[in-house]
Amino acid sequence: MKSFKYEIFTSFIEKNISEGIYMPGHKLPSVREVKDKYQISISTVQSGYEYLMIRGLVISIPKSGYFVATATEKKQEKISSRRKPVVRDPLFKNNLLLTTSLRSGRQLSEFNVAAPGDLLVPQKLLLRTMQQVIREEGASLLRYYPANGSSDLRKTISGYAAGYQTVLPPEELLITDGALQSLYIALSSVCTAGDVIAVESPCVFSVLEIIRVLHLRVIEIPADTQSGFDVDFFRKACEKNTIKAVLLTPNFHNPTGILLSDEKKKDLLRIIQHEGIALIENDIYGDLSFTNKRPLPVKAFDESGLVMTYSSYSKTLAPGIRLGWLSAGRFMERAEQIRFSLGSSVSPVYQETVDRLLKTNSYDRHLRHFRKQLAKNAHLTVRLLSENFPKDTTLLTPSGGYNLWVRMPDQINMEGFYRQCNKIGVRFTPGYTFSFSGIFSNYFRIVFSDNYTTQRIEALRLAGQLAG
Ligand SMILES: Cc1ncc(COP(=O)(O)O)c(C=O)c1O
Repeated sequence: MKSFKYEIFTSFIEKNISEGIYMPGHKLPSVREVKDKYQISISTVQSGYEYLMIRGLVISIPKSGYFVATATEKKQEKISSRRKPVVRDPLFKNNLLLTTSLRSGRQLSEFNVAAPGDLLVPQKLLLRTMQQVIREEGASLLRYYPANGSSDLRKTISGYAAGYQTVLPPEELLITDGALQSLYIALSSVCTAGDVIAVESPCVFSVLEIIRVLHLRVIEIPADTQSGFDVDFFRKACEKNTIKAVLLTPNFHNPTGILLSDEKKKDLLRIIQHEGIALIENDIYGDLSFTNKRPLPVKAFDESGLVMTYSSYSKTLAPGIRLGWLSAGRFMERAEQIRFSLGSSVSPVYQETVDRLLKTNSYDRHLRHFRKQLAKNAHLTVRLLSENFPKDTTLLTPSGGYNLWVRMPDQINMEGFYRQCNKIGVRFTPGYTFSFSGIFSNYFRIVFSDNYTTQRIEALRLAGQLAG
C-alpha cells in the first residue's frame, strides 16, 4: 500500500536507480511529464522529488531539472576499503560457530545448539500471549520500565520459586537480558580483573568467554562423570588460593547433565560460608527434570546471602525471549548498579509476557509437556548412541535438561570424525570447547532438545558408523 501520493512515481524511480537502469547523472522526467503521466498535482511531484533528494538519490540543477545523484555508495566503498579488516579472535570465532546454528540449517541434523528445537518451542502460546499483552497494555509498553525490572514480574518470579522451597526476595531480584547477562553482573559484582575464581570443568564456552572478557584467572574444578562437582578438590583449592567466587550449574549441568545431590550442595555451602566466598549458581535447567521432583538450587539452603542464583527462559521457552533474572543476595547493591550501567534493555513486552505465563500456569502446563518429551528424546538418544556408536563409547543418561556428554574410545581420530559428520550435515559440539585447557578432546556434547524425525534418527545412525 502506498502511504504518500508521490510514491506512485518515486518508487518507480528508486527501483530503476537501484537496478542500475538509471545511472548517476541520468536526467529524470520533468515535473510536467510526471504530472501528466501519473495524473497528480505539480505540488505532489515536487514533494516526491524533494523526498528523493533528502534520501540522497536525486539532485536538482537549477533551470535544468532533476538528475540521478552521483554514486554516494561508491564513495563510501572507497572509504571502507581503506579501513583495516575486522580482527576476530580465532578461538572465539571457532567456538561460536560450533555452538550456534548454521543459517542453511534446514537440511542439516544439528545436535549442537542448546535451546528448544523448532518442534518444541511453544510457538502458539508465546505468540498468543505476546499479542494479548500488546493489545491490553498498549502504549504503556513503550515507556521505560524500572531499571531492576517490573516489580510485578519480580514478585511473580519470587512466588514461583517459593513453590520449590526457595526464597528469592523480590527486592534482591534483577531482571536481565538472559542468563549470560546475569552471570556477567554476578561475576562483576564480586571480582575484578586478575582475581581467581573456581569453575566446574567441563564448562560451556559462553561462560568461559565471559570469564575471559573479565580477565579473571581460573581454577578448573573437575566434575566427576557420576556425581559431578568435586567438592573435596574445591576444598583443597580454597586452602591454597584466594578464591573470590565459585561458579557451577548444580541442576542438570551443561554438558554432563549431572544433578548434584542435596548433600553435596550443603557441603559446598559449608565451604563457601567458612571461606566467605560467593557462590554463583546457574539454575537454567532446574525446571527441566524428567521426574515430577523439581531439584532444589543451593540457594534453597542458604541463609548467608553468599549465594547468587540466576536463570532465564531461554532453555525452557525460547531463546528469542530475552529474559533472565539474578537473585543477587548480599551483593545486590553492587549488582543493581552494574545492571543499570548495562542499560534498560529488557523489552516490557517480554517482561509482561513472562509474567502472564507464570501467573496463569501456562508455563507449568508447557513444562509438563516439554519435560515428558525431553525424557523420551533422552531415552531415544541413549539408545541410538548405544546401538550405533563404537563399543567403548561411554555416556551418562541424564535425568533432566537436554545435554548428553559422550566419551569416545581413545583410538578415535576426533578431527576426522567431525569432518566426516560435517559432510553428512551432522553437528555435535566438540569436547575441547568446554575447557580453557583444551582437554576433553575425546568427548562431544549432543543436544536432544528437538524431536526426532526419521532424518535425524538416520543422521545419528550414520554418524555412529562414521566413528567406526
Ligand atoms: C549453562 C548456560 N548458561 C547460559 C546460557 C545462555 O543463556 P541465555 O540465552 O539466557 O543468555 C547457556 C546457553 O547458551 C547455557 O548453556
